[in-house]
Amino acid sequence: MQSTSVKLLTTKIDVKEYVKNAKADGKTVGFVPTMGALHEGHESLITCAIQDTDEVIVSIFVNPTQFGPNEDFDKYPRQLEKDIARCEKLGVKAIFAPTPEEMYSDKNNLTLVLPSEKLKNKMCGKTRAGHFDGVATVVLKLFNIVQPDAAYFGQKDAQQLFIINKMVKDLDIPVNIVGCPIVRDENGLALSSRNAYLSENAKIKALTISKTLINIQNYYVGGKLMDIDTVMAIAKDTLDSLITLEYLEIYDYNTLLPVTTVGADTLVAIAVKIDGIRLIDNILI
Ligand code: PAJ
Repeated sequence: MQSTSVKLLTTKIDVKEYVKNAKADGKTVGFVPTMGALHEGHESLITCAIQDTDEVIVSIFVNPTQFGPNEDFDKYPRQLEKDIARCEKLGVKAIFAPTPEEMYSDKNNLTLVLPSEKLKNKMCGKTRAGHFDGVATVVLKLFNIVQPDAAYFGQKDAQQLFIINKMVKDLDIPVNIVGCPIVRDENGLALSSRNAYLSENAKIKALTISKTLINIQNYYVGGKLMDIDTVMAIAKDTLDSLITLEYLEIYDYNTLLPVTTVGADTLVAIAVKIDGIRLIDNILI
């Protein structure tokens, strides 16, 4: 491995020791949990953490418990060396990159964190059974290992951010959750590690996802009353016809309860498949 100023930690004990020393020096600790294949979306979270806290730890762990049996766990992009280089450039001090065995020593008898059914039986949870149980469980484990003062999550995964905020509140976890805006490429496509799977042709189709959200927003800003039928009609007009729509739904951003018309604080959320690749996006009106 090339020499780097970033400390690569692979065991829980090493992380705890590292954080204990940082806190003993009076430092605040910021934490950015990721599954790696870092891009500018992750970087924006890291930059925010670096601004807010003294010492930033990034975790890189493709968490098996949040992938369904027919999902892309095996082919999920893994590029630790590149990720380390990105982190170093940004000023990250330590990366936690454990093996699945380090994280789950007895994975067949795992204690799970179960977010409320009402929060997970919608949006991505409808088609990804067990996904948010896996996310909540790994995030709580990571919080317990790192014990950060603040942790940074992207609005890109709006349902995930909502569920983590709720978990922290319900379980009185002593960490400040900071939500960060969606980072897009110059054409509006929301950055995602899964964009790496897209062919050039699929990328062109994918641009119609954010275009759909913007057209919905513009229609609303134009002052017209908008129910879900209008939202769907805009999608039909804008979304590439070869894209499979998994859901396009409207929610109250503060409660994640469904709403019947678009108004202030409405979250418009979309999930699609393009050539079998699942992408999500959303906009807050
Ligand atoms: P991952 O998909 O790697 O995302 C890590 C963090 O980066 C999440 O908080 C996600 O919302 C944020 N992120 C991804 N793309 C973004 C973009 N375009 N703009 C802004 N933020 C973006 O989400 C996970 O990993 C995992 O579920 C995890 C929380 C690490 C638990 O395993």
